[in-house]
Amino acid sequence: MNIDLAGKVAIVTGAGRGIGREIALTLAQEGVITVITDINEALLTDMGKEFTAKGLKGSQYVCDVRDATQIQQVIDQIVERYGHIDILVNNAGVASGAPIDVLAEEIWDLNLDINLKGTFLMCKAVAPVMKKQQSGRIMNAASFAAIVPSYGSAAYASSKAGVEQFTRVLAGELGPWNIAVNCYAPGMIPTDMNHFADLQEPQQQRLLDTLTFRHWGKKDDVAHLICFLASDYAGYITGTMIDISGGKLATQIPRVAYEKAASEGAYEF
Ligand SMILES: NC(=O)c1ccc[n+]([C@@H]2O[C@H](COP(=O)([O-])OP(=O)(O)OC[C@H]3O[C@@H](n4cnc5c(N)ncnc54)[C@H](O)[C@@H]3O)[C@@H](O)[C@H]2O)c1
Repeated sequence: MNIDLAGKVAIVTGAGRGIGREIALTLAQEGVITVITDINEALLTDMGKEFTAKGLKGSQYVCDVRDATQIQQVIDQIVERYGHIDILVNNAGVASGAPIDVLAEEIWDLNLDINLKGTFLMCKAVAPVMKKQQSGRIMNAASFAAIVPSYGSAAYASSKAGVEQFTRVLAGELGPWNIAVNCYAPGMIPTDMNHFADLQEPQQQRLLDTLTFRHWGKKDDVAHLICFLASDYAGYITGTMIDISGGKLATQIPRVAYEKAASEGAYEF
């Protein structure tokens, strides 16, 4: 199986760091002309240097996914420069929150605006280009929080549940144009968004206790999924959410199996 993505054009939002950075680098290493966008110019500049050092093809644009005007300008420039857009990865996101009694309206708006409205605005701008081509792949970052939210995550979890349903609606609308729209639920991957790797050991263990594969996910786990979804091998997949969370949604108390495995000498806590 050879995933051939060479010559395709991709846009990755929020590509300055974390999972988005890994997705962008991996696509570019597969020969994809990769347009990296982020709200943070310093992160983008750093990423641009890495692209140049590695001889990767692409370009970079500072772009806030909440700003429809800015998005349209970027999309117009990409189309003028490359002529087509084959892959859109709506990775940009924030995660903040608090229990309902102290959840500020600003925090609610921030999560909904970036995670859900940002995804909508990017898709709205790219859809006409993909429709004209009669082809395209859109992947939206959802989260396991869309299904099993944690305490105090009303804003974030609601935004990601919205992304999941938006993905289905868009898949239905764009199917006739041969455009696949899917979302994915990553987790639990230590990044600057969650600082999992910096938690005290007992707190880390408490989180790992929720996973069927009892270890942190890696950014390249998601990057590889994106490459697959962008490839010809995924041509019949649309309108679904792919769980890439080490089985976070699979088992009620995964620790039971690990305790049994430990009693058989096959696992060490
Ligand atoms: N890390 C995980 O375990 C995990 C779990 C579930 C879902 N996700 C989702 O995966 C995506 C990436 O997460 P991450 O952990 O790499 O986060 P991260 O915070 O490391 O990276 C997010 C990136 O988005 C950019 N960004 C933020 N606001 C933006 C805006 N308005 N416009 C453009 N760019 C903006 C940031 O500058 C940053 O580069 C997010 O959508 C997140 O919700 C991550």
